[in-house]
Amino acid sequence: VGQSAIRHFLDLRDLDRTTLRQILDVAAGIKKMQHGRRRPIHPARPLEGRALGILLSKPSTRTRVSFEVGMRQLGGDAVVLSSADTQLGRGESVKDTARVLSRFVDAIVLRTGRTSALHELARWASVPVINGLTPASHPVQIMADIMTFEEHRGPIAGRTLAWVGDGNNVTSSLIEAAALFDFRLNIATPTQLAPNAEVVAWARGQGAELMLTHDPKEAVANADCVLTDTWVSMSDEAAAERIALLEPYRVDAALMKLAARDALFMHCLPAHIGEEVTEEVFEGPHSVVFDEAENRLHAQKGLLVWALGGKDWTRFGKEE
Ligand code: CP
Ligand code: NVA
Repeated sequence: VGQSAIRHFLDLRDLDRTTLRQILDVAAGIKKMQHGRRRPIHPARPLEGRALGILLSKPSTRTRVSFEVGMRQLGGDAVVLSSADTQLGRGESVKDTARVLSRFVDAIVLRTGRTSALHELARWASVPVINGLTPASHPVQIMADIMTFEEHRGPIAGRTLAWVGDGNNVTSSLIEAAALFDFRLNIATPTQLAPNAEVVAWARGQGAELMLTHDPKEAVANADCVLTDTWVSMSDEAAAERIALLEPYRVDAALMKLAARDALFMHCLPAHIGEEVTEEVFEGPHSVVFDEAENRLHAQKGLLVWALGGKDWTRFGKEE
């Protein structure tokens, strides 16, 4: 098996549309099968005997717990490593870390403040590497977001989503998703915090319908879903100028009124109430943020089954 056959999940665009759809189908199938069971354990335990390493050099609640619990529910084991507690934190190379961890675990999730470290890990690992967030992207989050939209509103293709606020790592993955899942995406950011131009160009090259604006009202008009995120990501300085630029981009009830009547509100969390979103919207009827958080678990399971489940991976999640 050559290196190219390793099922890394570094960015959405590395996978084809069919595979992305199949991952979500498996995730939804497993979720449905387990729904209502007291112990949500997959009867087939498809990843029994497998181990997942979750390597974090930045804090995490959802990514960490959803991967760890998800792996266990699939019958496998998981080990969470804070990079500060590993030799990586004392200067051991990513290259050596990759080769060593590959001898112990069957897949590695990495959350890092250095995007190049993710690519280096994938270059040297002989097991699948999954992007658990970098300053550049957050693809696992967007898999859960697509799943959440479709649970509430049906197929996302042809619908309109609106992103309001900072053009950040989550935005980049959402832009890739617009191209791969065929939805329209309106993005309102300050000029200085516009989304990654290379990602925008890639998505447009794939035929994505993206509208970039500085006007949140224009972005949100008639949208089926409004998304935002923290104004200060883990890779950012909490500078006063940054906050000042983003003040006009707060998602409040007046802004939500401009969206479709039944529009969803999503936020990857953690949220900063009163900054990027008001309490009224966050706690209000449009908000599906906790369904979205829960779906991290289910989407993660779909991904793990794809990465490690062997050639018949798509049958997991089908009724047995
Ligand atoms: N949304 C998300 O990735 O959350 P954590 O930082 O808690 O993992
Ligand atoms: N954009 C945020 C997402 C956190 C899950 C960050 O990078 O900190």
